[in-house]
Amino acid sequence: MIAYASRTGNVQYIVSQLQADNIEITENLMLCQPFLLITYTDQLGEVPIKVSQFLKNNYSWCQGVVASGNLNFGSQYFGGAGDKIANTYNIPLVRKVDLRGFKADYKAIQQFYETRVIHENVLEIK
Ligand SMILES: Cc1cc2nc3c(=O)[nH]c(=O)nc-3n(C[C@H](O)[C@H](O)[C@H](O)COP(=O)(O)O)c2cc1C
Repeated sequence: MIAYASRTGNVQYIVSQLQADNIEITENLMLCQPFLLITYTDQLGEVPIKVSQFLKNNYSWCQGVVASGNLNFGSQYFGGAGDKIANTYNIPLVRKVDLRGFKADYKAIQQFYETRVIHENVLEIK
């Protein structure tokens, strides 16, 4: 499963390029299964509020985080939501993506998803 947050459509586009079930994050969503988180970055390297709220309830199932950002914010802030989530919850930072990203980004994300998220599902069923 991919859980995502998108305000202006870039993350939604990234998700559309991936072969995976997906669900848009809402503050009260409870996901009792392994998932990959894809979020945008807000307010100078910050995690969007609804994503922070969602993670408080769901971080233990989160296998990795992808952050979309804009390189124009500079290296200190670019994709900062990904750094903050990875550090706070000790979750692998899979990739930072500039805006909608490129094919190489989708390929790397898909590969991570297939090895570290679907795989976890199989282990759960066993
Ligand atoms: C108010 C605002 C603040 C932003 N702050 C950052 C930032 O600090 N760092 C960053 O990398 N991108 C920042 N961005 C860029 C977005 O994270 C980027 O455009 C992302 O692709 C948006 O994803 P979405 O279209 O799915 O909402 C900001 C965008 C807006 C509108």
